[in-house]
Amino acid sequence: MEKNKLTMTTLDFNFVRSQFPAFSEPSLEGFAHFENAGGSFACGQMIDSLHRYYRETKVQPCYGFEPSHSAGKQMDRARQRMAAWLNVETDEVHFGPSTSQNTYVVAQALRQHLKPGDEIIVTNQDHEANVGVWRRLEADGMVIREWQVNPESAELDPAGLDNLLNDRTRVVAFTHCSNIVGSMHPVREWTDKIHAAGALAIVDGVSYAGHGLPDVDALGADIYLFSLYKVYGPHLGVMVMRKAVNEQLPYQGHFFNEDHPTDRFTPAGPDHAQIASVNGVIDYFEAVYSHHFGDSEAAQTQKTSRVRALFQHTERRNLQVLLDFLAHRKSVRLIGKAVTKNRAPTVSFTVKDRDPADIAAQLAEQKIGIGNGNCYAYRLMGALGIPPDQGVVRTSFVHYTREEEVSRLIGVLDKIL
Ligand SMILES: Cc1ncc(COP(=O)(O)O)c(C=O)c1O
Repeated sequence: MEKNKLTMTTLDFNFVRSQFPAFSEPSLEGFAHFENAGGSFACGQMIDSLHRYYRETKVQPCYGFEPSHSAGKQMDRARQRMAAWLNVETDEVHFGPSTSQNTYVVAQALRQHLKPGDEIIVTNQDHEANVGVWRRLEADGMVIREWQVNPESAELDPAGLDNLLNDRTRVVAFTHCSNIVGSMHPVREWTDKIHAAGALAIVDGVSYAGHGLPDVDALGADIYLFSLYKVYGPHLGVMVMRKAVNEQLPYQGHFFNEDHPTDRFTPAGPDHAQIASVNGVIDYFEAVYSHHFGDSEAAQTQKTSRVRALFQHTERRNLQVLLDFLAHRKSVRLIGKAVTKNRAPTVSFTVKDRDPADIAAQLAEQKIGIGNGNCYAYRLMGALGIPPDQGVVRTSFVHYTREEEVSRLIGVLDKIL
């Protein structure tokens, strides 16, 4: 019954696009946004929250006077609501300036926590934010093992993880979805293996979360990270750190904040207004939920999964068309699989004897914005034999992208490739 409901619900594009001021912004008329893996458009609810915060409550929050009290309440509420959508406890949600900053701080904690000879597994598929900070621990005696992609398919084979896990493994860092390859990984299967080996699983969800917020509890990640500027929100990094891990790692904040769970790994003073504006992002997800499903009595985990399924179902219809087009071009090397199952609409490719920057420039002339280069998945480029200074052409879209925009992209690619 539930399954039928999910597959039969279709996204109301008019409704969804009406929530994004960018789609009615005169200066953006005719622009097709295909660089969502870099940064999505912001929903109106978030922009309004930010605006309201600066106009009405821009003082130091959390004192007893108004407007300070309301400012603090908005921030607390943002954390509670984000935690509910991710199916974790409120104190497990940390807001930092970015995912790279969040992993950097955790790495400082691990520097103190781990011992020489302890092993850390990293991949060569990840964005550097989930690789370099862990690799630097080698200087403190930790041993780094690399779980390598298949150089043809660009995919991570779970057997590679099995071969590396051993009783010295303490941490495994991998991505939920690569920002180049697009495959959505079976995170739960992998975190189960990692936990069976007695290690922590650190999962980069940056390229996943824009396609629907995850149920972090169900995924089994010890630390799960993503960046709200790719999830219709402000430039903030969300880090879920499970309670048991928080209590185990040495804190990195001011010494007198040791007992405040959410201050232990976010040493910088947070951007108050942006945290408050996370309410706007959640308002958007709630608006999408009630517009399409209505059932306000549903459990929160069901709301999260319904919106996620709605987004991904919509995206995959457009994705198949783009993959089919690229897979049949002789000069194109498509990175990642040509089928939509468990695949995000982040589609990267190279073109024989062509510089990705030139292709991006030709698309830009037609008011189509795409990404190009290594997109900070620098090591992946090396593994695939692609010069990192050239990288790939990357097109990426989300649920709000219309079929007509994808057809327009394909039409222009057809002419210029
Ligand atoms: C997959 C992935 N992980 C991590 C990051 C780093 O995120 P941030 O810019 O918030 O540091 C990015 C940024 O593009 C990314 O695409």
